[in-house]
Amino acid sequence: MTELLRQGTEYFTGEFGVAPDGLWSAPGRVNVIGEHTDYNDGFAFPIAIDKRTTVAARAREDRMLRVASSAFPGVVETSLDGLDPDSLNGWAAYPLGVAWAMSRTAPAGALTGVDLALSSDVPAGAGLSSSAAVECAVALALNDLWQLGLSRQELARIGQLAENRVVGAPTGIMDQSASLLGEPDHGILLDCQSLKTESVALGFAAAGVGLLVIDTRTSHSHADGGYASRRRSCEDGARTMGVGSLRALGTEDLPRAATLLDGQTFRRVRHVITENQRVLDTVAALRTAGPTAIGPFLNESHVSMRDDFEISTPELDLAVSSAQELGALGARMTGGGFGGAAIALVRNGDASRVAEGIARDFSRAGFTAPHVFPVSASAGARREQ
Ligand code: GLA
Repeated sequence: MTELLRQGTEYFTGEFGVAPDGLWSAPGRVNVIGEHTDYNDGFAFPIAIDKRTTVAARAREDRMLRVASSAFPGVVETSLDGLDPDSLNGWAAYPLGVAWAMSRTAPAGALTGVDLALSSDVPAGAGLSSSAAVECAVALALNDLWQLGLSRQELARIGQLAENRVVGAPTGIMDQSASLLGEPDHGILLDCQSLKTESVALGFAAAGVGLLVIDTRTSHSHADGGYASRRRSCEDGARTMGVGSLRALGTEDLPRAATLLDGQTFRRVRHVITENQRVLDTVAALRTAGPTAIGPFLNESHVSMRDDFEISTPELDLAVSSAQELGALGARMTGGGFGGAAIALVRNGDASRVAEGIARDFSRAGFTAPHVFPVSASAGARREQ
């Protein structure tokens, strides 16, 4: 058992005075490419990472829900009957929001209370989906304890609903899909229209390359205005173009979009259309030429997010340009933007030099020192014991 799992069990026992019925875990994610495409029914290509949230849980005889998190003091208690999405807030909104979303799918009175204890090594606020890791670990635990038999795709929807309705962030399905469906050494090609997924071998080890995360330690929140306003622009653009979602458009539609849309909406739409194509190009390049061939797509994706979608920040731009100058094969900001993390694809022998160089460039620019660390594609959510 890993240290995190041992701690998870011990933490539960310390908080609730009995041993848990079981232990579940779910990873954070890094998106390799395909940003702000998920809510446009497009393509994304994330990986589940080797940082996880564990939840130790035990069914109760009554209808109380009690949640504890090793990152916050105290236990939050509520009754299954009193779960109200409008009155959940703080860290407990994530696990209790999932309980609310799941309880809607079950016959009234069929569910029992549960005690839950969360611990995590997914950095929070870094754009690595620490919230999806919590949602997916809790969803998997409740699915087992309540014997609901929901599929992984359905659990992803539950996590997204909790995030949208309870936390108030109008996010798409990518983060939860990555956390639930990830596989070691594979990326997940997500078609957010059909919800079909395909595991694609990354081949990083054989090619001697890996991903570095550069957490700029500048915070972001998708419940704030920027994310929602980008989403609205995409919906406006689709409406004006006469399609249900931007997925229906390809690069051949760009000249018509340029004549119909205002300048800003056009740039938002151009990002989504070209980003969908870059996801497909990246996967095709991985399959035919291996991971050393995908760098240019990562670089172009960053430029598109910086100039067309306008969701980058000076820190993210520096992380990317610095990684590129230090010899990374490709680099881009990852996640929703407005802060958080960038990724760089580097040859294994270059990783520490690149990490040190980025830290030096941040210090010269007067920015907060970044956290730079390697991540690898790992297994999705699972029952641990
Ligand atoms: C956040 C959201 C995702 C997705 C990304 C941008 O991570 O949670 O649904 O929209 O931003 O690609």
